[in-house]
Amino acid sequence: MTGSSVPNHIAIVMDGNGRWATRRYLPRVAGHKKGVDALRACVRHCGELGVRVLTVFAFSSENWNRPPEEVSGLMELLAVALSREVPQLHAEGVRIHFVGNRAALSEKVRAGLLQAEAATAGNARLIFNICFNYGGRWDVAQAAAGLAARGEPITEASLDRAMALAHVPDPDLLIRTGGEQRISNFLLWQAAYSELYFSDKLWPDFDAAAIDAAIADYARRERRFGKTSEQLAPGKSKKVA
Ligand code: IPE
Ligand code: IPE
Ligand code: MG
Repeated sequence: MTGSSVPNHIAIVMDGNGRWATRRYLPRVAGHKKGVDALRACVRHCGELGVRVLTVFAFSSENWNRPPEEVSGLMELLAVALSREVPQLHAEGVRIHFVGNRAALSEKVRAGLLQAEAATAGNARLIFNICFNYGGRWDVAQAAAGLAARGEPITEASLDRAMALAHVPDPDLLIRTGGEQRISNFLLWQAAYSELYFSDKLWPDFDAAAIDAAIADYARRERRFGKTSEQLAPGKSKKVA
């Protein structure tokens, strides 16, 4: 795969953990644990491919509506994964960013997130955004509220700068596993021109070969950004800054 055919920024809705577990007569949390294994491999593979930014949806604003034991299982899993995985991620040059509303999270989870961000702040190989207690509508609202509080004009550019993902360019490729073809309140603002890729594979089964297949599909797309095909210089259509 050539450098230019690899997206700069991949975003993933990691869906299907529950069904993966249920099919094996396991509790849903077992699927989420398996999902962490798939995510570890995914981060590594993206780093090896030269992807610069990976953004994953780990817990949505709406996921609070799940059964309390699943919600607490997911909170616990995040805290445990952060403490276990950060040293290796750091060694691989990964910079971790938490993206979402921290206010509702426990002290333990908040502390783990801050520590992970601080420990990896000097890394630059791969930016890894973990969207947790995140919703696209929350992000637009918090950005607008911040601008209003500072008395700043609300424009596309100012909103863009106030968004939770202002530190990275918009995703080039947005993948959703698990067979559903919907956004579920993920990057509503930032996915305006992302290429969408839907896979029937459940997230725990989404391995390096599946990532390669998604990228190969992406590499065949022509990104026109409103222009006509004829306007685009041959071979440059898939490149983004
Ligand atoms: C995605 O898997 C992970 C989270 C939403 C936390 P699901 O738990 O939604 O899995 P399915 O869709 O029920 O199979
Ligand atoms: C989206 O998956 C959220 C995450 C993957 C974290 P859901 O499984 O919650 O989405 P819906 O509710 O089926 O749309
Ligand atoms: Mg789901």
